[in-house]
Amino acid sequence: MAHFTAVGNNPGLQSELYCWLVIGTDTLMTVSDIASVNERFGIDGTVHFGEGINSMPKAELTFNEARLELYLQGAHITRYQPAAGIEVLWMSDSALYQPGKALRGGIPLCWPWFGAHADTPDLPQHGYARTSQFQISSTNADHQATSITLTLDAAQAPWPDWQNRVALEFEIRLSNTLWMEMRSHNLSTSPLILSNALHSYFAISQRQQVTIPAVTGLTYLDKLQNYRSQQQTSAITFDSEVDRVYQAPPARIDFFDQGRNINTSFESWGNNNLVIWNPGEQKARQMNDFDDDGFEQMICIEPANALAHSITLAPGEHHRLGQEIKVNRN
Ligand code: BG6
Repeated sequence: MAHFTAVGNNPGLQSELYCWLVIGTDTLMTVSDIASVNERFGIDGTVHFGEGINSMPKAELTFNEARLELYLQGAHITRYQPAAGIEVLWMSDSALYQPGKALRGGIPLCWPWFGAHADTPDLPQHGYARTSQFQISSTNADHQATSITLTLDAAQAPWPDWQNRVALEFEIRLSNTLWMEMRSHNLSTSPLILSNALHSYFAISQRQQVTIPAVTGLTYLDKLQNYRSQQQTSAITFDSEVDRVYQAPPARIDFFDQGRNINTSFESWGNNNLVIWNPGEQKARQMNDFDDDGFEQMICIEPANALAHSITLAPGEHHRLGQEIKVNRN
C-alpha cells in the first residue's frame, strides 16, 4: 500500500514548514535577471540558470553523468537523463512554450487539484501550479546530490478567493536517482480539499512494448466509462486510449520497456492513487500541443490523490507527495 502522509498538529513539522515559507518569501526573485539568479543560486558546474525556448527561464542541473532540465513556470521538469543518451521523460515536439500555458510532457505538477475542480468546473483542469511562475528558494550540490527547491507562494494564486489559502514547496534531488517531493500547506483558517498528481510522462519505445506488472489485480476507476469501477484482472495493455485512476497502488511500481531494454522503477509516497494515461490516436490528434504520433512513444504514470481520495487539510496542516525514479538498462 502506498502510504499517506497528512501531518496534523505536529509542532516539529509545522515549524519546519514555517521555516521554508519564511525563507521562500525572503528569497523571492523575479527571473527576469538571469545573471543575478545565477549569481545567487547558480553553482559552478552543477546548477545553471538560462533561457529556454521562447526565452522562458529554466534551470539545468547535473550530477555526475545525470542531467535535468526544469522550467521555472510550473517548476516543470522537462528533461531527465540519468546517463548520456537515455531520455526518461517524453516531451512533445509540439509543446507550446508560452507563459500561462502548461507544457505538454515532462512532469507537470497538478495542484491544488487534479482533473476538473470538483465544485467549480470552470476552473482550469489540473489546477494552477503548472501555469504559475515558481520562485527559487535554494540550491545545493554536494557528493550525494544536486538539488533545487522552488516555492509557489500562497499570494500568487490567480483568483482572489484562492489567494493566501495554500502554498506549495517542490524539492528535486538529482543523484543516481531522481527524487522529488511536493509539500502543500493549508494557510487558511478553514479546511482545504486538496487533490494533486506528479503527472509524469515517460518516454517509451512503443506503447505495446511496455508492461506494468504492479497494477495487475488492482481496482481502478475508468475515466473512459464514466468512472466505472473495474478490476485489472490481466496485464494492462496500451492498444487504445487508457485513462484510469488506480486505487491503493503499491509504493513501488516497475515498468519494463522491451523495445529499449530499460526497466524503470519508482517509489511514491503520500498518494492514494496511481493514474495511468495514454490518449490514444484520436485524442492525441485533437490536442494542438501533442505530436500526432506521440501517443505511441509515451505513457503517463502519475502518483496522485484524486476523486474520492482527495485530501482534507485542516488549517495549518501540510501534506507530502513524492516519487523517486530509478532507471536500469539491462
Ligand atoms: C490525465 C487525466 O492525468 O491528464 C486525463 O487522467 C487528461 O483525463 C490528461 O486528459 C491530460 O490532461 P491535460 O489537461 O494536460 O490535457
